[in-house]
Amino acid sequence: MPAVLIDGKAIGLKIREGAKARTAVLRERGIVPCLAVVLAGEDPASLSYVSAKERALAEAGMESRDIRLPASTTEAELLALIAELNRDEKVHGILVQLPLPAHIAEDRVITAIDPAKDVDGFHPVSVGNMVLGRPGFLPCTPFGVLTLLRELHIPLAGAHAVVVGRSNIVGKPLANLLTRKDVNATVTICHTGTKDLARFTREADILIAAAGKPALIKPDMIKKGAAVIDVGVNRVPDSTAKKGYRLCGDVDPAAVEQAGYITPVPGGVGPMTIAMLLQNVVQAAERRTI
Ligand code: GUN
Repeated sequence: MPAVLIDGKAIGLKIREGAKARTAVLRERGIVPCLAVVLAGEDPASLSYVSAKERALAEAGMESRDIRLPASTTEAELLALIAELNRDEKVHGILVQLPLPAHIAEDRVITAIDPAKDVDGFHPVSVGNMVLGRPGFLPCTPFGVLTLLRELHIPLAGAHAVVVGRSNIVGKPLANLLTRKDVNATVTICHTGTKDLARFTREADILIAAAGKPALIKPDMIKKGAAVIDVGVNRVPDSTAKKGYRLCGDVDPAAVEQAGYITPVPGGVGPMTIAMLLQNVVQAAERRTI
């Protein structure tokens, strides 16, 4: 039997409805949750992510402060902008879309954001809080993956989760969240230095592909019936497609015959990332008004 396709759009919509309802409560008190969205340069994928985020914010009744900067923006200029947004009482959250142009140190920019406005959960304070299990903003994609698994009642306690990829945005935080006591999965992290990747992935009850390599995970690398979460969003050139490319996940589409559950690309993890962002923004606005 082919895998159950996980509808991230539908589950994300449910989360977005919750964020919308909480926004309505704040609006009645004259508070409009506001996210400053900073995009430096014109990376086409980033442009598309940023507009999707802004559309979702508007749809939930939130505001976005859309800040587009040229790729030539200096690090000092960006840091000055962040300082200004940190001081701005009307701005509840700050999102700097990554990657930044190569001449800007991402690390310094992320660290400049006030942790109280760090709705991406990338600031070292947010990362520290997450690792210690203290309240704080969780990064949107790992939080979205965890929410998907929970919403589908996929057993996590005692399960073996294999995370392929160790990025700061997905792999590292997701591995951490899955080992939390209230989740209780056993986690293996694989990466570019892993020898014989398939040996590990075949052992996974839950396989999370977040390597950024198109179709890296082949059907024979998956245990029959496993839950497969594909975080990859790769643009693969395709002359037959209208845009000249198509989106391809990190999992070979033929894996649908082997997995028990699988997330499609697009329509799986992507919509969850946006939903969790909205949830974090409304939470940032609520926290400031308590
Ligand atoms: N680039 C890729 N994913 C993300 C994300 O979740 N947040 C930001 N700010 N940039 C990204």
